[in-house]
Amino acid sequence: MIKIAPSILSADFSNLKDELKKVEEGGADFIHLDIMDGNFVPNITFGPPVIKRIRNVTKLPFDAHLMIENPERYIDDFVDAGADIITVHEESTRHLHRTIQSIKNRGIRAGVALNPSTPLNNIEYIMEYIDMVLIMTVNPGFGGQSFISSMKRKISDLKDIIDKRKLNIEIQVDGGIKLDNAREIANLGAEILVVGSGIFAAEDPTEETKKFKNI
Ligand code: DX5
Ligand code: ZN
Repeated sequence: MIKIAPSILSADFSNLKDELKKVEEGGADFIHLDIMDGNFVPNITFGPPVIKRIRNVTKLPFDAHLMIENPERYIDDFVDAGADIITVHEESTRHLHRTIQSIKNRGIRAGVALNPSTPLNNIEYIMEYIDMVLIMTVNPGFGGQSFISSMKRKISDLKDIIDKRKLNIEIQVDGGIKLDNAREIANLGAEILVVGSGIFAAEDPTEETKKFKNI
């Protein structure tokens, strides 16, 4: 079954506790946390203190997507706050291999995210060290944008590379995923779908999460 990671970027921040419970009830597999610094992306969200506060209101694993410059400075803070997976952008860190090692050394899972224009080649030599690749299917920074259709080929190319090299890597896809394209994206090889507005802008996020689980 497809794994669903609701992104709280589109949730009601004045009522995060209930929002988390709604998607947990709907069968979500992760909580996707979009961390933005106003520098790597043109938007600012939240950081470790918020994560620490919500850590106790759900049992779901926290999947932290760091859209920040030089994320290596904050790995320990996010692990200490309760992140179970940390994903850094290939474009955001000068020594990607070292950054991945510092995540793995803390005993959690490491992912690498690629902006739409970043080629898969850029992670060719570090793929054996990571647990997940996040294919961005919008330019990071905001919820509610449209899926960039040329990313379909990128997802299937990544799937081929992982199969050919027999790597143990999950493919996560993030941006513009709605009920009407989710099945197609999963069929290309995506195993974890991040859904923000598709779940939290809906009337009933619990029901919507169930629908995504059943695509
Ligand atoms: C975008 C974020 C996404 C975003 C997805 O920068 O990384 O996780 O919340 O939102 P939707 O599903 O609305 O495109
Ligand atoms: Zn994200």
